[in-house]
Amino acid sequence: MSSYSPDPKRYSQIPYRHCGKNGLKLPPLSLGLWQNFGELNPLPQQTEILTAAFDAGITHFDLANNYGPPADAAEKNFGKIFQENFNSFRHELVISTKAGYYGWEGPYGDGGSRKYLLSSIERSLRHLQIDYVDIFYHHRPDPDTPLEETMQALDQIVRQGKALYIGLSNYSGEQTVEAASLLKSLGTPCLIHQPVYNMLNRKLESDLIPALRETQIGCIPFSPLAQGLLTNRYLKGIPEDSRVGRGSLFLKQNQITPKLLETVHKLDKIANNREQSLAQMALAWILRLPEITSVLIGASSVQQLHQNIDCLKNLKFSEAELKEIDQILD
Ligand SMILES: NC(=O)c1ccc[n+]([C@@H]2O[C@H](COP(=O)([O-])OP(=O)(O)OC[C@H]3O[C@@H](n4cnc5c(N)ncnc54)[C@H](OP(=O)(O)O)[C@@H]3O)[C@@H](O)[C@H]2O)c1
Repeated sequence: MSSYSPDPKRYSQIPYRHCGKNGLKLPPLSLGLWQNFGELNPLPQQTEILTAAFDAGITHFDLANNYGPPADAAEKNFGKIFQENFNSFRHELVISTKAGYYGWEGPYGDGGSRKYLLSSIERSLRHLQIDYVDIFYHHRPDPDTPLEETMQALDQIVRQGKALYIGLSNYSGEQTVEAASLLKSLGTPCLIHQPVYNMLNRKLESDLIPALRETQIGCIPFSPLAQGLLTNRYLKGIPEDSRVGRGSLFLKQNQITPKLLETVHKLDKIANNREQSLAQMALAWILRLPEITSVLIGASSVQQLHQNIDCLKNLKFSEAELKEIDQILD
Protein backbone atom coordinates (compact mmCIF):
# COMPACT_ATOMS: atom_id res chain seq x y z
CA MET A 1 0.00 0.00 0.00
CA SER A 2 1.43 3.39 -1.00
CA SER A 3 1.66 6.34 1.31
CA TYR A 4 1.19 8.74 -1.62
CA SER A 5 -1.07 11.59 -0.82
CA PRO A 6 -1.44 14.20 -3.59
CA ASP A 7 -0.67 17.87 -3.07
CA PRO A 8 -3.90 19.47 -1.80
CA LYS A 9 -3.07 22.62 -3.82
CA ARG A 10 -2.86 20.72 -7.13
CA TYR A 11 -5.90 22.40 -8.68
CA SER A 12 -4.86 25.96 -7.86
CA GLN A 13 -1.83 25.88 -10.13
CA ILE A 14 -2.89 25.65 -13.77
CA PRO A 15 -5.88 26.70 -15.89
CA TYR A 16 -7.75 23.85 -17.64
CA ARG A 17 -8.97 24.11 -21.24
CA HIS A 18 -12.03 22.67 -23.00
CA CYS A 19 -11.45 20.06 -25.72
CA GLY A 20 -12.85 22.01 -28.67
CA LYS A 21 -16.56 22.55 -28.10
CA ASN A 22 -16.80 19.54 -25.76
CA GLY A 23 -17.41 19.56 -22.02
CA LEU A 24 -14.21 17.77 -21.02
CA LYS A 25 -11.33 19.97 -19.84
CA LEU A 26 -7.66 19.01 -19.95
CA PRO A 27 -4.58 20.58 -18.38
CA PRO A 28 -2.46 22.67 -20.80
CA LEU A 29 0.28 20.03 -20.46
CA SER A 30 -0.47 16.29 -20.35
CA LEU A 31 1.98 13.45 -19.75
CA GLY A 32 2.62 10.67 -22.28
CA LEU A 33 4.04 7.23 -21.38
CA TRP A 34 5.48 6.30 -24.78
CA GLN A 35 9.17 5.69 -24.08
CA ASN A 36 10.03 6.25 -20.42
CA PHE A 37 7.60 3.82 -18.79
CA GLY A 38 8.59 0.45 -20.23
CA GLU A 39 10.99 -2.19 -18.94
CA LEU A 40 14.12 0.01 -19.25
CA ASN A 41 13.06 2.47 -16.55
CA PRO A 42 12.74 1.41 -12.90
CA LEU A 43 9.20 1.45 -11.49
CA PRO A 44 10.03 3.82 -8.57
CA GLN A 45 11.32 6.39 -11.08
CA GLN A 46 8.13 6.04 -13.15
CA THR A 47 6.02 6.41 -10.01
CA GLU A 48 7.94 9.54 -9.02
CA ILE A 49 7.25 11.20 -12.40
CA LEU A 50 3.55 10.28 -12.42
CA THR A 51 2.90 11.43 -8.85
CA ALA A 52 4.88 14.67 -9.42
CA ALA A 53 2.72 15.32 -12.48
CA PHE A 54 -0.53 14.77 -10.56
CA ASP A 55 0.75 16.96 -7.71
CA ALA A 56 1.22 19.75 -10.26
CA GLY A 57 -2.34 19.44 -11.57
CA ILE A 58 -1.60 17.24 -14.59
CA THR A 59 -4.72 15.10 -14.64
CA HIS A 60 -4.19 13.47 -18.03
CA PHE A 61 -1.95 10.47 -18.73
CA ASP A 62 -1.70 9.14 -22.29
CA LEU A 63 -0.87 5.54 -23.23
CA ALA A 64 -1.21 3.09 -26.15
CA ASN A 65 -1.19 -0.67 -26.49
CA ASN A 66 2.28 -0.55 -28.11
CA TYR A 67 4.05 1.74 -25.59
CA GLY A 68 7.05 0.34 -23.75
CA PRO A 69 9.47 -0.95 -24.80
CA PRO A 70 8.37 -3.68 -25.28
CA ALA A 71 4.75 -3.24 -26.42
CA ASP A 72 2.25 -3.60 -23.54
CA ALA A 73 4.88 -2.76 -20.90
CA ALA A 74 3.81 0.86 -20.31
CA GLU A 75 0.17 -0.16 -19.82
CA LYS A 76 1.20 -2.96 -17.42
CA ASN A 77 3.51 -0.68 -15.44
CA PHE A 78 0.89 2.05 -15.29
CA GLY A 79 -1.61 -0.54 -14.04
CA LYS A 80 0.68 -1.42 -11.12
CA ILE A 81 1.42 2.23 -10.31
CA PHE A 82 -2.25 3.14 -10.59
CA GLN A 83 -3.32 0.39 -8.17
CA GLU A 84 -0.77 1.51 -5.61
CA ASN A 85 -1.09 5.24 -5.88
CA PHE A 86 -4.08 6.50 -7.84
CA ASN A 87 -6.88 4.03 -7.17
CA SER A 88 -8.78 6.49 -4.98
CA PHE A 89 -8.35 9.23 -7.59
CA ARG A 90 -9.73 7.47 -10.70
CA HIS A 91 -12.49 10.10 -11.00
CA GLU A 92 -9.86 12.88 -11.07
CA LEU A 93 -7.86 11.33 -13.91
CA VAL A 94 -8.23 11.27 -17.68
CA ILE A 95 -6.52 8.11 -18.91
CA SER A 96 -6.24 7.44 -22.61
CA THR A 97 -5.04 4.52 -24.68
CA LYS A 98 -4.92 3.63 -28.37
CA ALA A 99 -4.78 0.86 -30.94
CA GLY A 100 -3.87 1.10 -34.60
CA TYR A 101 -0.18 0.27 -34.87
CA TYR A 102 1.23 -3.24 -34.46
CA GLY A 103 -0.05 -4.66 -31.18
CA TRP A 104 0.53 -8.40 -31.38
CA GLU A 105 1.28 -11.23 -33.81
CA GLY A 106 -1.26 -12.60 -36.25
CA PRO A 107 -3.91 -11.07 -38.49
CA TYR A 108 -5.89 -9.37 -35.67
CA GLY A 109 -3.15 -7.32 -33.99
CA ASP A 110 -2.79 -4.33 -36.32
CA GLY A 111 -4.83 -1.87 -38.39
CA GLY A 112 -8.39 -0.62 -37.95
CA SER A 113 -10.67 -3.67 -38.04
CA ARG A 114 -13.50 -4.11 -35.58
CA LYS A 115 -11.78 -7.32 -34.45
CA TYR A 116 -8.51 -5.56 -33.62
CA LEU A 117 -10.00 -2.54 -31.86
CA LEU A 118 -12.49 -4.47 -29.72
CA SER A 119 -9.86 -7.03 -28.73
CA SER A 120 -7.28 -4.36 -28.00
CA ILE A 121 -9.43 -2.29 -25.64
CA GLU A 122 -10.16 -5.45 -23.62
CA ARG A 123 -6.44 -6.23 -23.32
CA SER A 124 -5.61 -2.62 -22.47
CA LEU A 125 -8.16 -2.47 -19.66
CA ARG A 126 -6.74 -5.69 -18.22
CA HIS A 127 -3.19 -4.31 -18.37
CA LEU A 128 -4.18 -0.92 -16.98
CA GLN A 129 -6.24 -2.57 -14.21
CA ILE A 130 -9.13 -0.14 -14.72
CA ASP A 131 -12.76 -0.58 -15.84
CA TYR A 132 -12.79 2.08 -18.55
CA VAL A 133 -10.49 4.55 -20.28
CA ASP A 134 -11.52 8.15 -20.66
CA ILE A 135 -10.34 8.44 -24.26
CA PHE A 136 -9.81 5.61 -26.74
CA TYR A 137 -7.97 6.55 -29.95
CA HIS A 138 -7.63 4.98 -33.32
CA HIS A 139 -3.85 5.43 -33.49
CA ARG A 140 -3.49 5.86 -37.27
CA PRO A 141 -5.67 5.63 -40.37
CA ASP A 142 -5.86 2.18 -41.99
CA PRO A 143 -6.27 2.37 -45.78
CA ASP A 144 -7.19 -1.35 -45.91
CA THR A 145 -10.23 -1.12 -43.63
CA PRO A 146 -13.41 0.80 -44.53
CA LEU A 147 -13.56 3.94 -42.41
CA GLU A 148 -17.17 3.02 -41.52
CA GLU A 149 -15.98 -0.25 -39.89
CA THR A 150 -13.37 1.53 -37.78
CA MET A 151 -15.75 4.28 -36.67
CA GLN A 152 -18.51 1.76 -35.85
CA ALA A 153 -16.01 -0.16 -33.69
CA LEU A 154 -15.06 3.03 -31.82
CA ASP A 155 -18.73 3.87 -31.29
CA GLN A 156 -19.33 0.36 -29.97
CA ILE A 157 -16.45 0.68 -27.49
CA VAL A 158 -18.12 3.76 -26.01
CA ARG A 159 -21.53 2.05 -25.94
CA GLN A 160 -19.95 -0.91 -24.11
CA GLY A 161 -18.80 1.53 -21.42
CA LYS A 162 -15.14 0.76 -22.09
CA ALA A 163 -14.33 4.35 -23.10
CA LEU A 164 -16.01 7.66 -22.36
CA TYR A 165 -14.77 9.47 -25.47
CA ILE A 166 -13.20 8.74 -28.84
CA GLY A 167 -10.10 10.30 -30.37
CA LEU A 168 -8.25 10.10 -33.68
CA SER A 169 -4.50 10.22 -34.13
CA ASN A 170 -2.34 10.81 -37.19
CA TYR A 171 -5.41 11.31 -39.44
CA SER A 172 -5.00 14.00 -42.15
CA GLY A 173 -7.33 17.00 -42.23
CA GLU A 174 -9.52 15.41 -44.91
CA GLN A 175 -9.65 12.03 -43.13
CA THR A 176 -10.53 13.80 -39.88
CA VAL A 177 -13.51 15.62 -41.37
CA GLU A 178 -14.84 12.37 -42.88
CA ALA A 179 -14.27 10.30 -39.72
CA ALA A 180 -15.74 13.01 -37.45
CA SER A 181 -18.87 13.16 -39.60
CA LEU A 182 -19.32 9.36 -39.40
CA LEU A 183 -18.82 9.38 -35.62
CA LYS A 184 -21.32 12.20 -35.23
CA SER A 185 -23.93 10.31 -37.26
CA LEU A 186 -23.39 7.28 -35.00
CA GLY A 187 -24.03 9.44 -31.92
CA THR A 188 -20.46 9.33 -30.56
CA PRO A 189 -18.84 12.64 -31.55
CA CYS A 190 -15.05 12.72 -31.77
CA LEU A 191 -13.52 14.46 -28.74
CA ILE A 192 -9.95 15.13 -29.75
CA HIS A 193 -7.22 14.71 -32.35
CA GLN A 194 -3.64 13.73 -31.52
CA PRO A 195 -1.23 14.88 -34.25
CA VAL A 196 2.50 15.47 -34.29
CA TYR A 197 3.35 19.18 -34.02
CA ASN A 198 6.48 21.04 -33.04
CA MET A 199 8.78 23.78 -34.31
CA LEU A 200 10.50 21.30 -36.62
CA ASN A 201 7.27 19.83 -38.03
CA ARG A 202 4.60 22.42 -38.83
CA LYS A 203 2.42 20.46 -41.28
CA LEU A 204 -0.52 20.67 -38.86
CA GLU A 205 -0.84 24.42 -39.47
CA SER A 206 -1.95 24.05 -43.10
CA ASP A 207 -3.57 20.61 -43.03
CA LEU A 208 -5.24 19.85 -39.74
CA ILE A 209 -6.03 23.23 -38.19
CA PRO A 210 -8.74 24.10 -40.78
CA ALA A 211 -10.32 20.66 -40.18
CA LEU A 212 -10.25 21.17 -36.40
CA ARG A 213 -11.94 24.56 -36.82
CA GLU A 214 -14.62 22.98 -39.01
CA THR A 215 -15.28 19.99 -36.72
CA GLN A 216 -14.61 21.91 -33.46
CA ILE A 217 -12.80 18.96 -31.91
CA GLY A 218 -9.90 19.42 -29.50
CA CYS A 219 -6.22 18.98 -30.29
CA ILE A 220 -3.37 17.49 -28.23
CA PRO A 221 -0.10 17.54 -30.21
CA PHE A 222 2.53 14.90 -29.45
CA SER A 223 6.34 15.10 -29.52
CA PRO A 224 6.25 18.86 -28.87
CA LEU A 225 9.99 18.86 -28.19
CA ALA A 226 10.71 16.69 -31.25
CA GLN A 227 11.60 13.90 -28.79
CA GLY A 228 14.22 16.09 -27.08
CA LEU A 229 15.80 17.76 -30.12
CA LEU A 230 14.14 21.06 -29.16
CA THR A 231 15.88 21.18 -25.79
CA ASN A 232 19.45 21.62 -24.60
CA ARG A 233 19.81 17.79 -24.46
CA TYR A 234 22.06 17.43 -27.52
CA LEU A 235 23.81 20.81 -27.60
CA LYS A 236 27.06 19.40 -26.18
CA GLY A 237 27.07 15.87 -27.63
CA ILE A 238 24.92 12.82 -26.99
CA PRO A 239 24.36 12.01 -23.30
CA GLU A 240 24.36 8.26 -22.54
CA ASP A 241 21.04 8.45 -20.70
CA SER A 242 19.27 10.36 -23.51
CA ARG A 243 16.74 8.91 -25.96
CA VAL A 244 19.41 8.83 -28.70
CA GLY A 245 22.08 7.56 -26.29
CA ARG A 246 19.86 4.70 -25.14
CA GLY A 247 19.41 3.56 -28.75
CA SER A 248 15.73 4.45 -29.27
CA LEU A 249 14.29 3.08 -32.51
CA PHE A 250 12.45 6.36 -33.02
CA LEU A 251 15.22 8.96 -32.60
CA LYS A 252 18.56 8.32 -34.25
CA GLN A 253 21.97 9.92 -34.00
CA ASN A 254 21.90 10.81 -37.73
CA GLN A 255 18.97 13.17 -37.05
CA ILE A 256 21.33 15.41 -35.05
CA THR A 257 22.86 17.18 -38.05
CA PRO A 258 25.02 20.35 -38.01
CA LYS A 259 22.06 22.19 -39.64
CA LEU A 260 19.71 21.05 -36.86
CA LEU A 261 22.18 22.12 -34.18
CA GLU A 262 22.55 25.54 -35.80
CA THR A 263 18.75 25.97 -35.74
CA VAL A 264 18.54 24.79 -32.13
CA HIS A 265 21.31 27.20 -31.05
CA LYS A 266 19.48 30.14 -32.69
CA LEU A 267 16.18 29.18 -31.03
CA ASP A 268 17.97 28.74 -27.71
CA LYS A 269 19.17 32.34 -27.94
CA ILE A 270 15.61 33.65 -28.35
CA ALA A 271 14.50 31.48 -25.43
CA ASN A 272 17.30 32.92 -23.25
CA ASN A 273 16.14 36.45 -24.08
CA ARG A 274 12.66 35.42 -22.91
CA GLU A 275 14.24 34.05 -19.71
CA GLN A 276 13.02 30.58 -20.62
CA SER A 277 14.74 27.33 -21.51
CA LEU A 278 14.40 26.23 -25.12
CA ALA A 279 12.09 23.39 -24.02
CA GLN A 280 9.83 25.91 -22.25
CA MET A 281 9.73 28.21 -25.28
CA ALA A 282 8.99 25.29 -27.64
CA LEU A 283 5.99 24.27 -25.48
CA ALA A 284 4.71 27.83 -25.06
CA TRP A 285 4.99 28.31 -28.85
CA ILE A 286 2.56 25.40 -29.43
CA LEU A 287 0.11 26.73 -26.84
CA ARG A 288 -0.06 30.06 -28.78
CA LEU A 289 -2.63 28.47 -31.15
CA PRO A 290 -6.21 28.74 -29.86
CA GLU A 291 -7.10 25.33 -31.37
CA ILE A 292 -4.66 23.54 -29.04
CA THR A 293 -6.27 22.00 -25.95
CA SER A 294 -3.19 20.47 -24.33
CA VAL A 295 0.39 19.61 -25.23
CA LEU A 296 1.45 16.02 -24.74
CA ILE A 297 4.94 15.94 -23.27
CA GLY A 298 7.30 13.10 -22.43
CA ALA A 299 9.73 13.33 -19.50
CA SER A 300 12.49 11.02 -18.32
CA SER A 301 12.86 12.78 -14.94
CA VAL A 302 10.94 14.87 -12.45
CA GLN A 303 13.36 17.74 -13.17
CA GLN A 304 12.37 17.77 -16.86
CA LEU A 305 8.70 17.59 -15.92
CA HIS A 306 8.94 20.55 -13.53
CA GLN A 307 10.97 22.58 -16.00
CA ASN A 308 8.37 21.94 -18.70
CA ILE A 309 5.44 22.86 -16.45
CA ASP A 310 7.15 26.18 -15.76
CA CYS A 311 6.65 27.11 -19.43
CA LEU A 312 3.18 28.22 -18.29
CA LYS A 313 4.77 31.21 -16.55
CA ASN A 314 5.38 32.87 -19.92
CA LEU A 315 3.07 31.95 -22.78
CA LYS A 316 3.09 35.36 -24.48
CA PHE A 317 5.06 36.02 -27.68
CA SER A 318 5.64 39.41 -29.26
CA GLU A 319 5.10 39.75 -33.04
CA ALA A 320 8.86 40.30 -33.39
CA GLU A 321 9.66 37.04 -31.55
CA LEU A 322 7.21 35.05 -33.68
CA LYS A 323 8.65 36.57 -36.85
CA GLU A 324 12.21 35.77 -35.82
CA ILE A 325 11.23 32.17 -34.97
CA ASP A 326 9.50 31.83 -38.38
CA GLN A 327 12.65 33.08 -40.11
CA ILE A 328 14.85 30.57 -38.26
CA LEU A 329 12.47 27.70 -39.06
CA ASP A 330 12.05 28.68 -42.73
N1 LIG B 1 -0.16 9.35 -31.38
C1 LIG B 1 1.05 9.07 -31.77
O1 LIG B 1 1.29 8.50 -32.84
C2 LIG B 1 2.19 9.41 -30.85
C3 LIG B 1 3.52 9.32 -31.28
C4 LIG B 1 4.53 9.71 -30.40
C5 LIG B 1 4.22 10.16 -29.12
N2 LIG B 1 2.92 10.21 -28.72
C6 LIG B 1 2.54 10.66 -27.36
O2 LIG B 1 3.19 11.89 -27.06
C7 LIG B 1 3.94 11.76 -25.85
C8 LIG B 1 5.14 12.64 -25.88
O3 LIG B 1 5.98 12.29 -26.98
P1 LIG B 1 7.54 12.48 -26.86
O4 LIG B 1 8.05 11.69 -25.70
O5 LIG B 1 8.14 12.30 -28.18
O6 LIG B 1 7.55 14.04 -26.42
P2 LIG B 1 8.67 15.15 -26.35
O7 LIG B 1 8.22 16.01 -25.22
O8 LIG B 1 8.86 15.76 -27.68
O9 LIG B 1 10.02 14.39 -25.97
C9 LIG B 1 10.24 13.89 -24.70
C10 LIG B 1 11.73 13.72 -24.45
O10 LIG B 1 12.37 14.98 -24.55
C11 LIG B 1 13.36 15.11 -23.55
N3 LIG B 1 12.98 16.21 -22.65
C12 LIG B 1 11.75 16.49 -22.16
N4 LIG B 1 11.77 17.60 -21.40
C13 LIG B 1 13.06 18.03 -21.41
C14 LIG B 1 13.72 19.13 -20.82
N5 LIG B 1 13.07 20.03 -20.08
N6 LIG B 1 15.06 19.27 -21.03
C15 LIG B 1 15.74 18.37 -21.79
N7 LIG B 1 15.16 17.31 -22.39
C16 LIG B 1 13.83 17.15 -22.20
C17 LIG B 1 13.41 13.78 -22.82
O11 LIG B 1 14.36 13.00 -23.51
P3 LIG B 1 15.39 12.03 -22.76
O12 LIG B 1 14.62 10.75 -22.66
O13 LIG B 1 16.53 12.01 -23.71
O14 LIG B 1 15.71 12.62 -21.42
C18 LIG B 1 12.03 13.22 -23.05
O15 LIG B 1 11.99 11.82 -22.97
C19 LIG B 1 4.24 10.26 -25.79
O16 LIG B 1 4.58 9.82 -24.50
C20 LIG B 1 2.93 9.68 -26.28
O17 LIG B 1 1.98 9.71 -25.22
C21 LIG B 1 1.90 9.86 -29.57
